[in-house]
Amino acid sequence: SWTMGSFIERICQQIREQVGDGQVILGLSGGVDSSVAAALIHKAIGDQLICIFVDNGLLRARETAAVEKLFRDNFHIRMKTVDASAIFLKKLKGVTDPEKKRKIIGNEFIKVFEAAARDLKKSSPGKYRFLAQGTLYPDVIESVSISGNPAALIKSHHNVGGLPERMKFELVEPLRQLFKDEVREVGTELGLPKEVVHRQPFPGPGLAVRVLGDITEEKLRMVREADAVVLEEMKASGWYYKVWQSFAVLLPVRSVGVMGDERTYENTIALRVVESRDGMTADWVRVPYDILARISTRIINEVDGVNRVCYDISSKPPATIEWE
Ligand code: XMP
Repeated sequence: SWTMGSFIERICQQIREQVGDGQVILGLSGGVDSSVAAALIHKAIGDQLICIFVDNGLLRARETAAVEKLFRDNFHIRMKTVDASAIFLKKLKGVTDPEKKRKIIGNEFIKVFEAAARDLKKSSPGKYRFLAQGTLYPDVIESVSISGNPAALIKSHHNVGGLPERMKFELVEPLRQLFKDEVREVGTELGLPKEVVHRQPFPGPGLAVRVLGDITEEKLRMVREADAVVLEEMKASGWYYKVWQSFAVLLPVRSVGVMGDERTYENTIALRVVESRDGMTADWVRVPYDILARISTRIINEVDGVNRVCYDISSKPPATIEWE
Protein backbone atom coordinates (compact mmCIF):
# COMPACT_ATOMS: atom_id res chain seq x y z
CA SER A 1 0.00 0.00 0.00
CA TRP A 2 1.09 3.58 -0.61
CA THR A 3 2.65 5.48 2.26
CA MET A 4 4.67 8.67 2.41
CA GLY A 5 7.49 6.60 3.89
CA SER A 6 7.67 4.20 0.96
CA PHE A 7 7.36 7.07 -1.47
CA ILE A 8 10.37 8.78 0.08
CA GLU A 9 12.27 5.50 0.06
CA ARG A 10 11.61 5.16 -3.66
CA ILE A 11 12.92 8.64 -4.42
CA CYS A 12 16.00 7.94 -2.29
CA GLN A 13 16.62 4.75 -4.23
CA GLN A 14 16.47 6.72 -7.48
CA ILE A 15 18.94 9.28 -6.13
CA ARG A 16 21.35 6.54 -5.06
CA GLU A 17 21.13 4.88 -8.47
CA GLN A 18 21.77 8.12 -10.30
CA VAL A 19 24.63 9.32 -8.12
CA GLY A 20 26.52 6.10 -7.38
CA ASP A 21 29.61 7.06 -5.41
CA GLY A 22 29.69 10.61 -6.82
CA GLN A 23 29.28 13.80 -4.81
CA VAL A 24 26.37 16.22 -5.05
CA ILE A 25 26.42 20.01 -4.64
CA LEU A 26 23.20 21.75 -3.69
CA GLY A 27 22.58 25.50 -3.55
CA LEU A 28 20.68 25.93 -0.31
CA SER A 29 18.60 29.09 -0.01
CA GLY A 30 16.68 28.28 3.16
CA GLY A 31 13.42 28.24 1.19
CA VAL A 32 11.00 25.32 1.17
CA ASP A 33 12.17 23.63 -2.03
CA SER A 34 15.93 23.63 -1.53
CA SER A 35 15.50 22.70 2.14
CA VAL A 36 13.35 19.67 1.37
CA ALA A 37 15.67 18.68 -1.48
CA ALA A 38 18.63 18.86 0.92
CA ALA A 39 16.94 16.71 3.57
CA LEU A 40 15.84 14.19 0.97
CA ILE A 41 19.20 13.86 -0.77
CA HIS A 42 20.94 13.66 2.59
CA LYS A 43 18.67 10.80 3.59
CA ALA A 44 19.60 9.04 0.35
CA ILE A 45 23.37 9.57 0.23
CA GLY A 46 24.46 11.17 3.53
CA ASP A 47 27.88 12.83 3.32
CA GLN A 48 28.03 12.56 -0.46
CA LEU A 49 25.91 15.73 -0.33
CA ILE A 50 27.35 19.16 0.34
CA CYS A 51 25.24 22.32 0.47
CA ILE A 52 26.46 25.77 -0.51
CA PHE A 53 24.70 28.65 1.20
CA VAL A 54 25.43 32.14 -0.12
CA ASP A 55 24.98 35.03 2.29
CA ASN A 56 24.41 37.94 -0.08
CA GLY A 57 24.01 40.50 2.70
CA LEU A 58 20.35 40.90 1.74
CA LEU A 59 18.93 38.22 4.00
CA ARG A 60 16.57 38.51 6.92
CA ALA A 61 17.83 38.83 10.49
CA ARG A 62 19.72 35.78 11.80
CA GLU A 63 19.03 33.86 8.59
CA THR A 64 22.49 32.37 8.09
CA ALA A 65 22.71 31.24 11.71
CA ALA A 66 19.28 29.60 11.52
CA VAL A 67 20.10 27.71 8.32
CA GLU A 68 23.45 26.55 9.71
CA LYS A 69 21.89 25.46 12.96
CA LEU A 70 19.21 23.41 11.26
CA PHE A 71 21.17 21.76 8.49
CA ARG A 72 24.66 21.52 9.96
CA ASP A 73 23.92 21.05 13.67
CA ASN A 74 20.59 19.18 13.60
CA PHE A 75 20.68 17.29 10.33
CA HIS A 76 24.49 16.89 10.20
CA ILE A 77 24.50 17.87 6.56
CA ARG A 78 27.82 19.07 5.18
CA MET A 79 27.47 22.75 4.49
CA LYS A 80 29.64 25.51 3.18
CA THR A 81 28.56 29.08 3.90
CA VAL A 82 29.96 31.79 1.68
CA ASP A 83 29.77 35.27 3.13
CA ALA A 84 29.63 37.36 -0.03
CA SER A 85 27.77 40.31 1.45
CA ALA A 86 30.62 42.76 0.89
CA ILE A 87 30.75 41.98 -2.84
CA PHE A 88 26.99 42.25 -3.30
CA LEU A 89 26.74 45.54 -1.44
CA LYS A 90 29.66 46.97 -3.39
CA LYS A 91 28.09 46.02 -6.74
CA LEU A 92 24.73 47.45 -5.64
CA LYS A 93 26.15 50.76 -4.47
CA GLY A 94 24.19 53.67 -5.95
CA VAL A 95 21.91 51.42 -8.03
CA THR A 96 18.26 52.50 -7.83
CA ASP A 97 16.56 50.69 -10.71
CA PRO A 98 14.77 47.55 -9.45
CA GLU A 99 15.51 45.46 -12.54
CA LYS A 100 19.17 46.48 -12.44
CA LYS A 101 19.30 45.41 -8.81
CA ARG A 102 17.83 42.02 -9.75
CA LYS A 103 20.27 41.55 -12.60
CA ILE A 104 23.29 42.42 -10.47
CA ILE A 105 22.18 40.09 -7.69
CA GLY A 106 21.43 37.23 -10.11
CA ASN A 107 24.79 37.57 -11.87
CA GLU A 108 26.74 37.90 -8.65
CA PHE A 109 25.01 34.86 -7.19
CA ILE A 110 26.06 32.75 -10.14
CA LYS A 111 29.65 33.98 -9.89
CA VAL A 112 29.91 33.31 -6.17
CA PHE A 113 28.23 29.94 -6.43
CA GLU A 114 30.42 28.90 -9.33
CA ALA A 115 33.58 29.87 -7.47
CA ALA A 116 32.51 27.84 -4.44
CA ALA A 117 31.63 24.86 -6.64
CA ARG A 118 34.94 25.14 -8.48
CA ASP A 119 36.83 25.04 -5.16
CA LEU A 120 34.99 21.86 -4.23
CA LYS A 121 35.76 20.27 -7.58
CA LYS A 122 39.44 21.08 -7.13
CA SER A 123 39.44 19.59 -3.64
CA SER A 124 38.39 16.18 -4.94
CA PRO A 125 38.78 15.87 -8.69
CA GLY A 126 36.23 13.80 -10.57
CA LYS A 127 33.91 13.45 -7.57
CA TYR A 128 31.60 16.47 -7.72
CA ARG A 129 29.76 15.63 -10.88
CA PHE A 130 26.23 16.40 -9.68
CA LEU A 131 24.28 19.57 -9.05
CA ALA A 132 21.02 19.26 -7.12
CA GLN A 133 18.06 21.56 -7.61
CA GLY A 134 14.72 21.87 -5.91
CA THR A 135 12.83 22.03 -9.19
CA LEU A 136 9.13 21.25 -8.74
CA TYR A 137 6.66 19.91 -11.25
CA PRO A 138 5.06 23.35 -11.78
CA ASP A 139 8.55 24.78 -12.50
CA VAL A 140 8.99 22.16 -15.18
CA ILE A 141 5.74 23.24 -16.81
CA GLU A 142 6.32 26.95 -16.32
CA SER A 143 9.75 26.84 -17.88
CA VAL A 144 8.16 25.82 -21.17
CA SER A 145 5.18 28.16 -20.98
CA ILE A 146 5.20 31.92 -20.77
CA SER A 147 4.86 32.96 -17.18
CA GLY A 148 4.29 36.39 -15.74
CA ASN A 149 5.60 35.28 -12.39
CA PRO A 150 8.96 36.91 -11.67
CA ALA A 151 9.63 34.24 -9.08
CA ALA A 152 9.57 31.62 -11.81
CA LEU A 153 11.69 33.74 -14.12
CA ILE A 154 14.32 34.38 -11.51
CA LYS A 155 14.15 30.79 -10.45
CA SER A 156 14.90 29.47 -13.89
CA HIS A 157 17.64 32.06 -14.10
CA HIS A 158 19.08 31.08 -10.73
CA ASN A 159 18.61 27.39 -11.11
CA VAL A 160 20.04 26.89 -14.53
CA GLY A 161 21.68 30.10 -15.69
CA GLY A 162 24.29 28.20 -17.68
CA LEU A 163 25.75 26.70 -14.53
CA PRO A 164 25.41 23.01 -15.35
CA GLU A 165 26.59 23.54 -18.91
CA ARG A 166 29.61 25.63 -18.03
CA MET A 167 30.64 23.43 -15.17
CA LYS A 168 29.60 20.12 -16.65
CA PHE A 169 27.25 19.02 -13.93
CA GLU A 170 24.60 16.39 -14.18
CA LEU A 171 21.37 17.56 -12.55
CA VAL A 172 19.74 15.82 -9.61
CA GLU A 173 16.13 16.94 -9.26
CA PRO A 174 14.35 14.78 -6.71
CA LEU A 175 11.26 17.05 -6.46
CA ARG A 176 10.63 17.17 -10.19
CA GLN A 177 7.43 15.14 -9.99
CA LEU A 178 5.98 16.91 -6.98
CA PHE A 179 3.58 19.76 -6.37
CA LYS A 180 4.24 22.25 -3.57
CA ASP A 181 1.83 20.57 -1.14
CA GLU A 182 3.55 17.23 -1.67
CA VAL A 183 6.96 18.82 -1.14
CA ARG A 184 5.71 20.15 2.20
CA GLU A 185 4.45 16.66 3.15
CA VAL A 186 7.80 15.13 2.27
CA GLY A 187 9.60 17.81 4.29
CA THR A 188 7.37 17.20 7.30
CA GLU A 189 7.90 13.45 7.08
CA LEU A 190 11.67 14.03 6.95
CA GLY A 191 11.48 15.99 10.20
CA LEU A 192 11.92 19.53 8.92
CA PRO A 193 10.30 22.07 11.27
CA LYS A 194 7.10 23.90 10.43
CA GLU A 195 8.99 27.22 10.15
CA VAL A 196 10.81 25.77 7.14
CA VAL A 197 8.12 23.59 5.56
CA HIS A 198 5.46 26.32 5.73
CA ARG A 199 7.75 29.26 5.27
CA GLN A 200 6.43 32.26 3.40
CA PRO A 201 8.08 32.92 0.02
CA PHE A 202 11.06 35.26 0.12
CA PRO A 203 12.35 36.77 -3.12
CA GLY A 204 15.80 35.84 -4.40
CA PRO A 205 16.95 39.50 -4.42
CA GLY A 206 15.89 39.60 -0.78
CA LEU A 207 15.83 42.87 1.11
CA ALA A 208 17.33 44.67 -1.89
CA VAL A 209 13.82 44.99 -3.37
CA ARG A 210 12.43 46.02 0.01
CA VAL A 211 14.69 49.03 0.33
CA LEU A 212 13.26 51.38 -2.27
CA GLY A 213 15.93 53.17 -4.20
CA ASP A 214 19.63 52.81 -3.47
CA ILE A 215 20.87 50.38 -0.87
CA THR A 216 23.09 51.16 2.08
CA GLU A 217 24.06 49.16 5.16
CA GLU A 218 22.07 51.56 7.31
CA LYS A 219 18.89 51.16 5.24
CA LEU A 220 19.32 47.40 5.25
CA ARG A 221 19.64 47.48 9.03
CA MET A 222 16.36 49.39 9.37
CA VAL A 223 14.35 47.19 7.05
CA ARG A 224 15.88 44.05 8.56
CA GLU A 225 15.02 45.07 12.11
CA ALA A 226 11.50 46.13 11.12
CA ASP A 227 11.04 42.88 9.23
CA ALA A 228 12.11 40.88 12.30
CA VAL A 229 9.43 42.62 14.35
CA VAL A 230 6.80 41.86 11.69
CA LEU A 231 7.75 38.19 11.61
CA GLU A 232 7.83 37.88 15.38
CA GLU A 233 4.41 39.44 15.84
CA MET A 234 2.85 37.57 12.93
CA LYS A 235 4.12 34.29 14.39
CA ALA A 236 3.15 35.15 17.96
CA SER A 237 -0.41 36.00 16.89
CA GLY A 238 -0.78 32.93 14.66
CA TRP A 239 -1.23 35.05 11.52
CA TYR A 240 2.07 34.15 9.88
CA TYR A 241 0.83 30.80 8.60
CA LYS A 242 -2.56 32.17 7.51
CA VAL A 243 -1.17 34.64 4.98
CA TRP A 244 0.88 34.39 1.79
CA GLN A 245 3.49 36.97 2.81
CA SER A 246 4.04 39.54 5.51
CA PHE A 247 6.97 41.92 5.47
CA ALA A 248 8.35 45.44 5.90
CA VAL A 249 9.44 47.82 3.15
CA LEU A 250 11.67 50.85 3.74
CA LEU A 251 10.36 53.85 1.83
CA PRO A 252 12.56 56.68 0.55
CA VAL A 253 10.40 59.11 2.48
CA ARG A 254 11.16 61.01 5.65
CA SER A 255 8.56 62.74 7.72
CA VAL A 256 8.29 64.84 10.84
CA GLY A 257 7.61 63.36 14.24
CA VAL A 258 8.01 64.11 17.93
CA MET A 259 9.98 62.22 20.51
CA GLY A 260 9.90 63.73 24.00
CA ASP A 261 10.54 67.44 23.38
CA GLU A 262 12.47 66.68 20.24
CA ARG A 263 11.30 67.11 16.71
CA THR A 264 12.35 64.15 14.53
CA TYR A 265 12.66 63.85 10.80
CA GLU A 266 12.97 60.18 10.06
CA ASN A 267 12.15 57.20 7.84
CA THR A 268 8.94 55.40 6.96
CA ILE A 269 8.21 51.69 6.96
CA ALA A 270 5.37 50.26 4.89
CA LEU A 271 3.87 47.07 6.22
CA ARG A 272 2.66 44.62 3.56
CA VAL A 273 0.52 41.59 4.43
CA VAL A 274 -1.17 39.75 1.56
CA GLU A 275 -3.16 36.63 0.89
CA SER A 276 -2.74 34.85 -2.42
CA ARG A 277 -2.93 31.41 -4.02
CA ASP A 278 0.10 31.64 -6.27
CA GLY A 279 1.47 35.18 -6.12
CA MET A 280 -0.18 36.14 -9.42
CA THR A 281 -3.04 37.98 -7.74
CA ALA A 282 -3.24 39.06 -4.14
CA ASP A 283 -5.35 40.95 -1.67
CA TRP A 284 -4.25 42.83 1.42
CA VAL A 285 -5.14 41.06 4.63
CA ARG A 286 -7.58 42.53 7.12
CA VAL A 287 -5.17 41.99 10.00
CA PRO A 288 -6.82 42.87 13.35
CA TYR A 289 -6.10 46.43 14.48
CA ASP A 290 -4.50 45.35 17.75
CA ILE A 291 -1.87 43.33 15.88
CA LEU A 292 -1.19 46.22 13.50
CA ALA A 293 -0.91 48.50 16.52
CA ARG A 294 1.62 46.25 18.24
CA ILE A 295 3.73 45.94 15.11
CA SER A 296 3.70 49.70 14.55
CA THR A 297 4.53 50.57 18.15
CA ARG A 298 7.36 48.08 18.29
CA ILE A 299 8.91 49.18 15.00
CA ILE A 300 8.82 52.84 15.97
CA ASN A 301 10.20 52.14 19.47
CA GLU A 302 12.79 49.57 18.53
CA VAL A 303 14.08 50.53 15.10
CA ASP A 304 16.39 53.50 15.23
CA GLY A 305 15.70 55.90 12.38
CA VAL A 306 12.03 55.02 11.84
CA ASN A 307 9.25 57.25 13.16
CA ARG A 308 6.27 56.22 11.03
CA VAL A 309 4.60 52.99 9.88
CA CYS A 310 1.97 52.78 7.12
CA TYR A 311 -0.21 49.80 6.15
CA ASP A 312 -0.41 48.95 2.47
CA ILE A 313 -4.06 48.42 1.47
CA SER A 314 -3.50 47.78 -2.26
CA SER A 315 -4.43 44.59 -4.03
CA LYS A 316 -2.67 42.95 -6.99
CA PRO A 317 -3.46 43.89 -9.67
CA PRO A 318 -2.86 46.73 -10.14
CA ALA A 319 -0.27 46.94 -7.35
CA THR A 320 2.33 44.19 -7.11
CA ILE A 321 3.11 42.31 -3.89
CA GLU A 322 6.64 43.70 -3.65
CA TRP A 323 7.18 47.44 -3.97
CA GLU A 324 9.97 47.01 -6.51
P1 XMP B 1 5.12 40.68 -7.29
O1 XMP B 1 5.84 41.76 -6.56
O2 XMP B 1 5.51 40.61 -8.74
O3 XMP B 1 5.57 39.31 -6.63
O4 XMP B 1 3.63 40.78 -7.12
C1 XMP B 1 4.95 38.07 -6.84
C2 XMP B 1 5.68 37.02 -6.02
O5 XMP B 1 7.00 36.85 -6.52
C3 XMP B 1 7.96 37.18 -5.52
N1 XMP B 1 9.04 37.91 -6.20
C4 XMP B 1 10.25 37.40 -6.49
N2 XMP B 1 10.79 36.21 -6.22
N3 XMP B 1 12.77 36.87 -7.28
C5 XMP B 1 12.07 35.94 -6.60
O6 XMP B 1 12.58 34.85 -6.35
C6 XMP B 1 12.29 38.10 -7.59
O7 XMP B 1 12.97 38.92 -8.20
C7 XMP B 1 10.96 38.37 -7.17
N4 XMP B 1 10.15 39.45 -7.30
C8 XMP B 1 8.99 39.14 -6.71
C9 XMP B 1 7.23 38.02 -4.50
O8 XMP B 1 7.84 37.94 -3.22
C10 XMP B 1 5.84 37.42 -4.55
O9 XMP B 1 5.75 36.24 -3.76
